Amino acid sequence: MTTHNVALIPGDGIGTEVLPAARLVLDAVGRRHRIAFTYTQFDWSCERYLRVGSMMPDDGLDRLREHDAILLGAVGYPGVPDHVSLWGLLIPIRRAFQQYVNLRPIRVFEGLTSPVRGAVAGDVDFVVVRENTEGEYSEIGGRTNRGLPDEMAVQQAVFTRTGVTRVVDFALALAERRRGHLTSATKSNGIVHTMPFWDELVAERAAGHPDVVCVQEHIDALAAKFVLDPARFDVVVASNLFGDILSDLAAAVAGGIGIAPSANLNPEGDHPSMFEPVHGSAPDIAGQGVANPIGAIWSAAMMLDHLGHPEAAADITDAIARVLATSTVRTRDLGGSASTTEFTSAVLSAL
Ligand code: NAI
Ligand code: MG
Repeated sequence: MTTHNVALIPGDGIGTEVLPAARLVLDAVGRRHRIAFTYTQFDWSCERYLRVGSMMPDDGLDRLREHDAILLGAVGYPGVPDHVSLWGLLIPIRRAFQQYVNLRPIRVFEGLTSPVRGAVAGDVDFVVVRENTEGEYSEIGGRTNRGLPDEMAVQQAVFTRTGVTRVVDFALALAERRRGHLTSATKSNGIVHTMPFWDELVAERAAGHPDVVCVQEHIDALAAKFVLDPARFDVVVASNLFGDILSDLAAAVAGGIGIAPSANLNPEGDHPSMFEPVHGSAPDIAGQGVANPIGAIWSAAMMLDHLGHPEAAADITDAIARVLATSTVRTRDLGGSASTTEFTSAVLSAL
């Protein structure tokens, strides 16, 4: 029996509805694979911010550090600016724990209709590897002359050799284990310093993987190809901003944001990695028990894979696929009428 200590941060809104679903599925698959979980739940959220003035306590990162992995629901609450929740919780965790890979798999499941006509189940199966600790999301910059006609803002993008190399190496190794195809998102025609540097490093690292076919595409054309021909992709590597936008677009191609999972990985395992659905706290449906739990459940499967249990992880994704392919049980966002609990029960039965 292996035991893993998991930190649970349900967060706000539907985060608190989808995380219990993920936990039920983890426990069920754990029983079959002789994996036990001990959970520590933290109430870190925008609601906590409104109560006590911070998203997490001062020693929050130290309390997370002792866990094997972190499972997060979503944060965001009307009345709390989004940069507070992002920079008060998610970004400190990603950076302190060197979670430099944000991994977002995209699949069109049989039984779901993609809003994109050409996206056929089985054909669309790719992964976006987003750089997660530097790039366009930097703290360097500033504002001057606030309120004056010559007011200005400067935001510096930061690309380091170490930062780009490690995420590109991860993407190349992943492409090697998959179908051997890597697409690099760039914009070196318009962004003339950081993006040519990115391209050079991609070419340099790709030279060490002759078995991977590596192509680069400008981000604007690439966005169009995600819609026009999503089946052509295997692994896509992108900077922080480009990867953020591409992966939400890809989630929509797959049938909706409620399905999409993500992993914030520290591949070396020096620090805990964090797993979270791509969607936010969805205040418009929070509290109704109708949130789609697939994104959270699939994220839990990614956690199992990262912790060294690929068979248990595959059991979960197979169970999701089976429910969608063989039943009409679906939550409202996918055109059904099942509640979060009803859909989760169907996944548990399939398991
Ligand atoms: P959102 O993802 O929360 O919702 C967008 C739309 O998709 C809404 O109509 C919502 O009802 C629907 N939706 C999302 N997930 C769903 C699910 N599992 N099942 C059924 N429907 C689902 O994005 P939005 O509205 O832009 O942001 C709401 C709040 O969430 C904001 O405060 C935002 O900052 C935060 N947010 C947090 C994230 C995180 O914790 N990582 C990521 C994205 C947004
Ligand atoms: Mg996003």
